[in-house]
Amino acid sequence: MIENRFARRAAALSTAFPAPHFPSELGADVIPFDSGFAAPQLLPDLTGFAEAALTVHREETLQYSATQGQPELRSWLADLMNGDGCAIGPENVLIVNGAKHGLELICRLLLDEGDSIVVTAPTYFTAIPIFRSFGVEFIEVAQDGEGLEVEALARALEARRTAGKPAPKLIYNVADFHNPTGATMSEARRRALVALAQREEIFVVEDTPYRRVRFEGGDVPSLKSLDESGIVFHVGTFSKLIAPGLRIGWVAAEAELIARLIQLKSDGGSSPLMQRIIYEFGRSPAFAAHVARVQEVYRERRDRMIEAVRLCLPEARLSVPEGGYYVWLTLPSHVDGDAFAARAAAAGVNIIPGSKFFASAAAHPRNDLAPRHHVRLSYSYATPEQIDEGVRRLAAVYEPVAA
Ligand SMILES: Cc1ncc(COP(=O)(O)O)c(C=O)c1O
Repeated sequence: MIENRFARRAAALSTAFPAPHFPSELGADVIPFDSGFAAPQLLPDLTGFAEAALTVHREETLQYSATQGQPELRSWLADLMNGDGCAIGPENVLIVNGAKHGLELICRLLLDEGDSIVVTAPTYFTAIPIFRSFGVEFIEVAQDGEGLEVEALARALEARRTAGKPAPKLIYNVADFHNPTGATMSEARRRALVALAQREEIFVVEDTPYRRVRFEGGDVPSLKSLDESGIVFHVGTFSKLIAPGLRIGWVAAEAELIARLIQLKSDGGSSPLMQRIIYEFGRSPAFAAHVARVQEVYRERRDRMIEAVRLCLPEARLSVPEGGYYVWLTLPSHVDGDAFAARAAAAGVNIIPGSKFFASAAAHPRNDLAPRHHVRLSYSYATPEQIDEGVRRLAAVYEPVAA
């Protein structure tokens, strides 16, 4: 094997295969509060739509297709977003292989090694290695119950300017039911963020997988709907709303940005078969009923988990998320979330320590820069009974860690 011939982005990668995180591969007794998987009973029966896609639409679905994606699906998505306050057309939509693929393409468009980007602290941890592979510096901005603290961001940008450092290339944010904190950014903060980004000419990447997984409360305008100068990339996905295995998502942006993204999209177009299945399902009456069921099932699980945590782990502080998949626990400051997660795993409950969600700490080999007194619990995959049992087990291992 030839050594030392890898690209810089690959040179530091481990040769160990990443551990599997698939709940189906775990023992029956293991409770997966770490997984962002869909509840199995919510995976819709798409057989009829798949059959039509493979018969009536065979010439389309088994052929190469336009890299931008199928026109009907793009039109339907534009309508869906326009019903949510945007003003876009099918020319503003690019179909991609899930949100993470959309993120990576946007990075390919905007980032050079040494650039900086803004992320919240904490942020979506799977996005961190995507950004890192582009050799960026992270500017971490705090968030509270109202989402990213825009005034803190404005101060950070000012400090960089004073220090003669270049402005960041993009601001990455999950404004709806944030992963991991569950927080939803307030309308005032959203308006302030878009105004700041416009003033400073910094692109905003709005990642919205949970936007329609809302249990209660009114919709808050998407960042894209507030965007008057074309600086927001809106990244959407069907992973949380229909099924992650379909691997279809979309990017909505100005047409000339979409045109450039198409030129960087080297996969020959996302699967036309999957696009047709989603389009036929999406425009059928079954779709609205499915979304209502998704909201109902996850609301029940959210309630169950909140109740169990309040009962069994009273020292943990939490904010009740109005949607999404996650509850973020803040433990007393001396409690080590990493140690808690390790003990939980030994007791058959998988959870993710909060330290994994801090971008600059994740880039540090010993990962000792991040706050360690948080953990993230997911309620999407575990059954209500597993939620009760899992939180009971967490409570049992919490005492020695907190002592
Ligand atoms: C914030 C965020 N973005 C993106 C994704 C993944 O989306 P996709 O499956 O479409 O790549 C997730 C899934 O957990 C997520 O939480």
